[in-house]
Amino acid sequence: MSDTHIKIFDTTLRDGEQAPGCSMTLSEKLRVAKALSELKVDIIEAGFPAASPGDFESVKAIAERNFGPVICGLARCNPADIEKVYEAVKYADKHRIHVFVATIAIHREHKLKMAKEEIIKSAVGAIRLAREFVDDVEFSPEDASRTELSYLAEVVAAAIEAGATTVNIPDTVGYTVPEEFDRLFRYLNEHVARIDEITLSVHCHNDLGMAVANSLAAVRAGARQIECTINGIGERAGNCSLEEAVMAIKTRAEFFGVETGIDTTRLYPTSRLVSSITGMHPPRNKAIVGENAFAHEAGIHQHGMLQHASTYEIMRPEDVGLAKSNLVLGKHSGRHAFRDRLLELGFELDEFETNRAFQEFKKLADKKKDVYDGDLESIVMNAGAASSGPWTLQSLEVQTHTDQPATAAINLIYEDGKEVSESADGDGPVAAAFQALERATGVELVLRNFELHSASIGEDAQGEVTVTVEYDGQSYRGHGASVDIVEAGCRACLEVMNRILRRQDRDGTMDATAGDPTRATI
Ligand code: KIV
Ligand code: ZN
Repeated sequence: MSDTHIKIFDTTLRDGEQAPGCSMTLSEKLRVAKALSELKVDIIEAGFPAASPGDFESVKAIAERNFGPVICGLARCNPADIEKVYEAVKYADKHRIHVFVATIAIHREHKLKMAKEEIIKSAVGAIRLAREFVDDVEFSPEDASRTELSYLAEVVAAAIEAGATTVNIPDTVGYTVPEEFDRLFRYLNEHVARIDEITLSVHCHNDLGMAVANSLAAVRAGARQIECTINGIGERAGNCSLEEAVMAIKTRAEFFGVETGIDTTRLYPTSRLVSSITGMHPPRNKAIVGENAFAHEAGIHQHGMLQHASTYEIMRPEDVGLAKSNLVLGKHSGRHAFRDRLLELGFELDEFETNRAFQEFKKLADKKKDVYDGDLESIVMNAGAASSGPWTLQSLEVQTHTDQPATAAINLIYEDGKEVSESADGDGPVAAAFQALERATGVELVLRNFELHSASIGEDAQGEVTVTVEYDGQSYRGHGASVDIVEAGCRACLEVMNRILRRQDRDGTMDATAGDPTRATI
């Protein structure tokens, strides 16, 4: 690998998924892992196998698919964690064990109650053990940016001596600033023996909004791996955003003098996939993947753009996977036009998936005149979830009156053809419809959150609803889309009910487990 190649280590499925509200089911994680491999990330950190049986199973399932990138799992510095990672990642042709321990004084004294030498001993023991299992071992001194510099250099030297092949420098609480981080990396480069034999990595959190800037400063000072997440999701203010770091390196290639192997045309579709799964939609003005990132409203800008795009555009929308035009489809559009548009948007569906998506498109085109790219994306993202029974929503009728309870009547069809109709009152149409659904399916959920996102533009835009609900002490997330937002909410709720019923039917499989209360946290 050339010295100008920056490895992209994606931790959306570990540090990203750890964030509140971002947990994913096994099948969602597999979709994200596949998308990350199409994006051509170098390493996928698939999870923290010792955290819960669900985490272990998902890392193993991703490794078994062997999508192409190195599959990595996180471990604390203890044999049980390390063995678990190995048991999960060993199925992938290329696999890595990532061990970490906190090195900062506050953690040494209050969390770990270990002296400096004990921390080094524990790191060295863990790295040596991991090296008995695999050749590719990464070590992270947690909260490195707030650790005493000379001690950090000692830890890093010991880690290299013990056999670490990548040493990652985390700014765990997003505290550092670019100039300071630059000094830290230059200090390590000057004071640690054999540092040129390993890959130096950077892992930044965004608490002060500087995760991307700090990661890029580290690259300028010699880091050759960036740890990041799609849409910058992650605990608190999130992690370094993959799409921003990658596009900064590409757009300012002459300044950074390095390159990544990322297929940048997959950035937008991957961002859309992660936001539709997690329900965490980037703000409109988010760099690279926000809805307004390439929109020019001001007349003076539009005029300049018409003369020459580069007047106000430093990147082309198509470079990040945003289709050139927002071509509109309608009810007269045929299967060919539909499939071509999906291809242009980066969705390669098989015959069965195309048929299913085309049916949904026809239904939607009957309801709204213009079908935009956002609507098509929404159809594709929600097609899988919507189609898996046992229950299917046949019809929904809601009535609302000012100062009176709302009423909802629903009709559902079970997979054996049986029809059930129920009605209920509620404080609002959503409450009434959810209660009618509960009566019909017999699954009682506690609604914790209801998020609405508009898939395209105009009054008849489709609403994408993400619900977070609780059932039997566990948290689940469901998605649904429709031009009617109450119906979108019902579809999201029914998706969860169906998952619960399928899991009860299969009894014991983990696929329906979105939130696992037994998870350990770091
Ligand atoms: O932020 C952090 O320190 C981490 C480590 C486990 C790498 O996520
Ligand atoms: Zn982190």
